[in-house]
Amino acid sequence: MAETARLNVDGKDLELPVLKGTIGPDVIDIGKLYAQSGAFTFDPGFTSTASCKSTITYIDGDEGVLLYRGYPIEQLAMEGDFLESCYLLLYGELPTAAQFEVFKRNITRHTMVHEQMTRFYQGFRRDAHPMSVMVAVVGAMSAFYHDSLDINDPRQREIAAHRMIAKMPTIAAMAYKYHVGQPFVYPRNDLSYAANFLHMCFAVPCEEYKVHPALARAMDRIFTLHADHEQNASTSTVRLAGSSGANPFACIAAGIACLWGPAHGGANEAALKMLEEIGSVDKIPAFIEKVKDKNSNVRLMGFGHRVYKNYDPRAKILQASAHEVFEALGVKDDPLLDVARALEKVALSDEYFIQRKLYPNVDFYSGIILRAMGFPTSMFTVLFALARTVGWISQWKEMIDDPAQKIGRPRQLYVGPAKREYVPVAKR
Ligand code: CMC
Repeated sequence: MAETARLNVDGKDLELPVLKGTIGPDVIDIGKLYAQSGAFTFDPGFTSTASCKSTITYIDGDEGVLLYRGYPIEQLAMEGDFLESCYLLLYGELPTAAQFEVFKRNITRHTMVHEQMTRFYQGFRRDAHPMSVMVAVVGAMSAFYHDSLDINDPRQREIAAHRMIAKMPTIAAMAYKYHVGQPFVYPRNDLSYAANFLHMCFAVPCEEYKVHPALARAMDRIFTLHADHEQNASTSTVRLAGSSGANPFACIAAGIACLWGPAHGGANEAALKMLEEIGSVDKIPAFIEKVKDKNSNVRLMGFGHRVYKNYDPRAKILQASAHEVFEALGVKDDPLLDVARALEKVALSDEYFIQRKLYPNVDFYSGIILRAMGFPTSMFTVLFALARTVGWISQWKEMIDDPAQKIGRPRQLYVGPAKREYVPVAKR
């Protein structure tokens, strides 16, 4: 694209700067459009709008490419480790061995939560959805960690970031333990990030629990795959909340609330429920017909993506991971995996899905793996939130560091009543 784009508004010629990224589509800068023309742009759902400049994550939806700071997700997930990706997302480069040791120590040293926070949990109903507990407890961190609330102090921002990455597994595991009526298990700093989380979820005081290394590896991979995904709904929520100067814990709580929705992070829970409802391979054709029926409001959960118009690279890794997990658990056959595989095959050869470029997304296989590991469906989105925390906090940090940052304040196309006179109730 040329260096500028031309727009004619009401006979007035406007020249708009065209910004170029390292890779990806050019971006027309409309920042001065309103001042120059008196008109806004209209883009519900932000399908054509870049909301910020970012150096963190890149997605090529047509090619099915996902890069964290330039590194392909396949390499990070298969050869690296989640905490390495956390460092990369937060600081922009992979750590040296020495930097990694210090970072791991920092994260490990912050895994415990303030003891008084445990009382928070007792206030919730046992049957509360763990995501509702997460929203509340993470928001409540701002009531406990007053020494890392000053967003203008870079050191406090860093401590808040480390605290959230370190404590999120503890908070999530406590939500699970409370949900199932078991005592909380304290973090074990001699275990890896993923193994410690599995231990906090599945250990009980009455016997020893050894984390299977293959399950810890699969958990770590799931965390890496979910760590960031550029300006999705929850990340944009975190940035928007943060743009007002709100503290980091409040911003991440806002992100968790947004992630909960079934069109976003809640889709893995919905995808698994759907597979359970279908139940067997012979019911697939009838289900596909329902999905294609415009009046049914049924969607194939775990399929389709706003950005990926190709196979989601994360889904490919998870499909392979599913085998490893089942092997480790000694599961020979899983009827849900059979339904998922057959459903994928049918959908990928059906004209409806081909035409609309609907492919499996990350949520299609993650639920099957998490269920096999022993997590109830209500915990799936919690695990997504845990992993995405580093992405949210990296994006939040980038926003605060950006000198061009200002409060996010979209405008609107008003289509309500024009000015009219108030009528007292007796005369209405
Ligand atoms: N099943 C059936 N039809 C679908 C689906 C689906 N999963 N997704 C999109 N379509 C159809 C939709 O009906 C529409 O058809 P038509 O053009 O005939 O009206 C067309 O495809 C375009 O859909 P859209 O809703 O305009 O697309 P979008 O980009 O706004 O939606 C989405 C993206 C993820 C919300 C959607 O694909 C969806 O609801 N998928 C199921 C939920 C899901 O798996 N979400 C997880 C997303 S990945 C995890 C994450 O990043 O949070």
